[in-house]
Amino acid sequence: MNYAVRSEILNLNVYKAGKPIDEVKRELGLNEVIKLASNENPLGCSEKVKAVLKNMIDEANMYPDASNYELKYNIAKKNNVHFDQIFCSTGSDSLIKVICNTFLNSGDESIMGEVTFSRYIDSTKLMGGKVIQIPMKNHGLDLDAMVNAITEKTKIIWLCNPNNPTGTIFTKSELENILKKIPSHVIVVMDEAYIEYVTDKEYPDSLSLLPSYPNMIILRTFSKAYGLAALRCGYGIASKELGGYFNRVIGPFDVNLFAQKAAVTALEDQDFIKLVHNTNKDCKEYLYKELENLGLEYIKSNTNFIMFDTKKDDINLFNELLKRGVIIRPGSFLGMPGWIRLSIGTKEQNIVFINALKEVLSL
Ligand SMILES: Cc1ncc(COP(=O)(O)O)c(C=O)c1O
Repeated sequence: MNYAVRSEILNLNVYKAGKPIDEVKRELGLNEVIKLASNENPLGCSEKVKAVLKNMIDEANMYPDASNYELKYNIAKKNNVHFDQIFCSTGSDSLIKVICNTFLNSGDESIMGEVTFSRYIDSTKLMGGKVIQIPMKNHGLDLDAMVNAITEKTKIIWLCNPNNPTGTIFTKSELENILKKIPSHVIVVMDEAYIEYVTDKEYPDSLSLLPSYPNMIILRTFSKAYGLAALRCGYGIASKELGGYFNRVIGPFDVNLFAQKAAVTALEDQDFIKLVHNTNKDCKEYLYKELENLGLEYIKSNTNFIMFDTKKDDINLFNELLKRGVIIRPGSFLGMPGWIRLSIGTKEQNIVFINALKEVLSL
């Protein structure tokens, strides 16, 4: 058929997500499969959240609160900002699209690292925008080069901190240094999806910079440390003015009823987040040691995943690991062929992974 599909859509690819557990079980006839591919929380979510969700099933017939009042109120309170500065949607993924919908006209440029979260590319292209990718420096974002790439067509600069998939961060002083150089009409997106896992003391407190830089937007999510990826809930913090624009673009019922209640309860249970942070840190140390024993180079991570260099064909390793019931993310899908991105699992899952890795490396 000769449909009038926009050329921007014809040029998009479907997002290649981490392989689901059931698909691997079905395809390979396996009973036990662990997924360490999508940076999910292996500890699940807070018990308090589970209790709330169990009691909500009879409310499934009702629309959620379109204003997200309770959710926004609690996010604003926790972060000590005004209610009108908050905007929420179906994951921060959706907010990336909302930001592009709001600012990009055809031909406008958006700047990002060469190896970063790929959804910045798709959402830019969807609006007919031009993707400007800047080579990495020591596996981290090259902030100076990104700022030097700004032209009068630049509308957005994407700062993923910590960066997915490399796990690197840039520091407070590095951020302050570049913010001064970015023209005030260019939107600076601080994607902080992994903030709860950060261990580096030099990590910037972007919220404290927000009053001085009204062109800044902070994105956070309940999908990672809060363990609510299935419910799809992310939020942003920006000036009241920008928040007002985004709330016009976001669909009224994008955050479903279960997600709203679960997220409010999850925010209250900061003991769970501490447990998640500490467990992740310990497990990361174990994996670092094992990778060192295997002589494999890895990038120090401030997240719940580790990128390491296998010096082999990562797609082949991916397939061999699948046969052994372990799903990882091959670097070839992320712009780093030969590398593997491993989501940090539970202690037991990490041991299973290391044993499988030893086996496939010796093939
Ligand atoms: C850096 C980064 N930003 C945003 C997202 C989107 O997360 P969600 O849509 O689940 O909130 C992800 C998910 O992997 C991510 O890694």
